[in-house]
Amino acid sequence: MSAENTVSPTEVVVDARPLLDAEAGVLALAVWPGEAPDQPSERVSRDDAAPAGPDGDSSPWVGPGGAEVADALGLDLFAALDRDHATGKAGEVVAVQVFAEGRGAASVDGEVDVTEVLLVGLGDGSPAAYRKAGAALARAARGVDRLASAVTATADDAATRAFVEGAVLATYTLGGFRSTPVRETRLPLGTLVLTGDGARVDVVAAAVAVARAGWTARDLAQTPSNIKDPEWLAAQALRLGAEHRLDVRVRDEKALADEGFGGILAVGMGSERPPRLIALRYEPPKAGRDTPHVVLVGKGITYDTGGLSLKPREGMVPMKADMTGGAVVMGVLSAVRELGVGVRVTGLVAAAENALGAAAQRPSDVIRQYDGTTVEVLNTDAEGRLVLADGIGYAVAELEPTVVVDVATLTGAATTALGRGHGALYSPSDALADALRSAGEASGELLWRMPLVEDYRSALESSIADISHIDTEHVGGGSITAALFLQRFVGDVPWAHLDIAGPARADSDKGELTKGGTGFGVRALLYWLEAGAPVS
Ligand code: BES
Ligand code: MN
Ligand code: ZN
Repeated sequence: MSAENTVSPTEVVVDARPLLDAEAGVLALAVWPGEAPDQPSERVSRDDAAPAGPDGDSSPWVGPGGAEVADALGLDLFAALDRDHATGKAGEVVAVQVFAEGRGAASVDGEVDVTEVLLVGLGDGSPAAYRKAGAALARAARGVDRLASAVTATADDAATRAFVEGAVLATYTLGGFRSTPVRETRLPLGTLVLTGDGARVDVVAAAVAVARAGWTARDLAQTPSNIKDPEWLAAQALRLGAEHRLDVRVRDEKALADEGFGGILAVGMGSERPPRLIALRYEPPKAGRDTPHVVLVGKGITYDTGGLSLKPREGMVPMKADMTGGAVVMGVLSAVRELGVGVRVTGLVAAAENALGAAAQRPSDVIRQYDGTTVEVLNTDAEGRLVLADGIGYAVAELEPTVVVDVATLTGAATTALGRGHGALYSPSDALADALRSAGEASGELLWRMPLVEDYRSALESSIADISHIDTEHVGGGSITAALFLQRFVGDVPWAHLDIAGPARADSDKGELTKGGTGFGVRALLYWLEAGAPVS
């Protein structure tokens, strides 16, 4: 069995030539709803749209390139839209097959036969609509070798980014775990050609880097845990470091013990497969003394059985993805250089397998975290916060961070509160919370700010140690008390915590998401880092 994905994401290229000259077998055109209130009329005049809608403004209309394509291939695009009762809503796709005089495909310029034209709805023209459109188009074009698109011909940079990110992410497929290769018709589109002068090469490159980081995180999250253990995760970090020019340092169980990483060790000691602390470091090309230093800390539980506080089967099956926070950190680090991020970034992945074994920690044990805090462990299934506390404590003590952001599939309670659509965001800083929330919104990963409720803090009191790691007073709000536990280790350093237990997994293919691990957080964090990681 291969440990690496055998499927590659779609390549995206920019080509200034008209759609019909791009030597692609499938073409894609934009469709705008006729009645959209904020139709971006300055982008495309209605005269450019072709052919004209039969019912005036109430029926959808086709964007630039439509007239030429309809003309060259002898198609009635409006009849096709009509036949499918198309409205032009975001992500709607109408496929028009191309036949020349009833025989085979129409040839344009004799080079490549056009077999199909895909008409893609752009709805309100927002980046979110372009993201949906890109995703839907890519799904409709699975197995296609080369597709030329004029859909982004009039898009601004944010919309182009969203379109390309949606297209590349939506056909994420993990190959290598079947005994047969992935069927051709299930493969992602080979090459997406963006025609017209709407798309800037650097914008497309950034979008591809972000989407590939998403693929990386999904690969890591979806790999089964008989293959994925802390050492495997460390090996992946070393591979990514070599590929993307990052310094990678891995601490093994001996180094962890020597340096006092008591939380990571306690969680890992029930497993045959010892824990690791993985550090990936990015230094921007023009770093100086004042360059901010962002430290990202990811929960890297390569499998969460619950430990002696064993999970039931149903709750355990998804726990191969309990290292998604770590996968997100690794995905982010794999893209920062390509995105030209101007701040220093260190990614820490606290990796351990929370297994059930003779040497496992027991509910009621007292452990010592990296920063010296003693913790009474009352439920071995609340393991994520123990490994994160060491990561955060180490960052604060040794790395001089400007800001620390941790990412974790931390609590079922976060899913109960927000479902799969939003990540739970905690920060004592309004400015940092706002910056992350906006980055999430711009990138399509929605974050919802949650309160660090002062009154719940006393629930973490312990009768024997400095603190307990779980709520001993039944105050409820399990995601909040987990955040309060983490906050203790960050002190006064600007900090945010993302509890991604809900959106880290998708139950079905939808938009740019694919069933299984989503790598949620990669895009929000990368957009925030691109903006210079604003803290205030
Ligand atoms: N990894 C789980 C949280 C989780 C649950 C993530 C479901 C994704 C889906 C975490 O380690 C955990 O078990 N948390 C416990 C905490 C409790 C024991 C205080 C939980 O949420 O039940
Ligand atoms: Mn757990
Ligand atoms: Zn867990």
